Amino acid sequence: MPYTVPQLTDFSAAALDDAVRELLAALEQESAAVGSENDWKAFRDRWIARKNGIFTQINDLWLKAAPAAKKRNVGQRVNELKPKVEQAVNGTYARLLSGALFKGRSVGRAKVQDTPPRPSDESESVQVTSPDVPSPVRGDSDPAEALPIVEEKPPEINQRIALPKAFMEWAERTGQPLTIDEAFSKAEAVDITLPGIRRPIGAEHPVIKTMNEMIGVFRNLGYSVEEGPEIETDFYNFEALNFPPNHPARDTQDTLFIAGQESKPLRDRLLLRTHTSPVQIRTMQKTKPPVRVVCPGKVHRNDALDATHSPIFHQIEGLAVDTNITFCDLKGTLDHAMKAMFGSSVKTRFYPSFFPFTEPSADVQISCIFCDGKGVRDGAPCRNCKASGWIELLGCGMVDPNVYGFVDYDPAKVSGFAFGMGVERIAILKYGVDDIQLFFQGDVRFLEQFL
Ligand code: PHE
Repeated sequence: MPYTVPQLTDFSAAALDDAVRELLAALEQESAAVGSENDWKAFRDRWIARKNGIFTQINDLWLKAAPAAKKRNVGQRVNELKPKVEQAVNGTYARLLSGALFKGRSVGRAKVQDTPPRPSDESESVQVTSPDVPSPVRGDSDPAEALPIVEEKPPEINQRIALPKAFMEWAERTGQPLTIDEAFSKAEAVDITLPGIRRPIGAEHPVIKTMNEMIGVFRNLGYSVEEGPEIETDFYNFEALNFPPNHPARDTQDTLFIAGQESKPLRDRLLLRTHTSPVQIRTMQKTKPPVRVVCPGKVHRNDALDATHSPIFHQIEGLAVDTNITFCDLKGTLDHAMKAMFGSSVKTRFYPSFFPFTEPSADVQISCIFCDGKGVRDGAPCRNCKASGWIELLGCGMVDPNVYGFVDYDPAKVSGFAFGMGVERIAILKYGVDDIQLFFQGDVRFLEQFL
């Protein structure tokens, strides 16, 4: 016979004691019979539903019915019962949950903090009302099947259980021995007001950082920034930069071509840009002089990997076109930029070179930042500049008049200079990195040195 709340007529202390004992015994028995999520829901509603739950009935049938003189006494007992009933409901849930956590393992031993005390002879073997309900307590089947992940947990239970549950899951995952009791006390020991574990936040990659620094130097000189596509046509990467078809200068840029382009005219064939110089052409096509731009970006060459070569790297291109721009402007600009990047004591040297799109052309060297241009360091020949005192850093020159022909500028009216530099090369020097591959391996131990 299921328990029903008796209508009290005798409100003496002894009669109240009996009634309370009977109620708690019923609570205990029904709690022990809960074997599934659905059982538990029914159990919860039967005992603590506002409308007609057993606890509500106690209020009506015991407290409200009590004569005025006994109200105080009855009230006290009802108040004492309230946390017991709630604990039994929550504790039963915790027991179910622990069954689910210990898939298939017996948890009969484990006492859950919120479970109401049980006579000791019952604690090992719990009767289940319906034999076909798998019991997590008996541990004789996979309770996870009987107890699907609960979608609608009452929030107060969620809070009580979430932390111990997290501890139990952690223990399962890491193979730590942890009883449910310990999980509950660990959860109680967690001070949720402590600051959490901070996730490391990202930082600029050293290549991007160097690029931005260099861009900053030129921004301060009044340059703006332009970008262009990494997949280019032969026209922009070569032809408009005064590399005629079959010109041997093309061979100096080990180009990666997109396959299957043979049916197209040469100028339309696609390739991975080998330098950022095509952005000069794109900029001049859409802007009338004066022009002052820097063009940062990724470039590709069919180079084998080694400590100083990578098939992907970055360049910053510069272009200034106006009336009366001379080689002096080029020298002054680059000398200033190198001093801004490497320190004011750095000297620059311009060395004759060749690029099809500049005439005259030069390679720029800076005085070695490791040996201060002496070629000797700590009594030994400087390894960084091969004892020459100079380090080659970038290419530059006055824009070849032929290039203006491709972009509709009048070479009789305008002149200008261009330069291009490898960003990794600058970063290697600036930060003393000894292998270009480190920039692309994504090793956090390397990268976090640049925070
Ligand atoms: N584009 C050239 C290279 O990649 C560098 C350069 C740029 C030289 C601009 C002169 C002027 O080698």
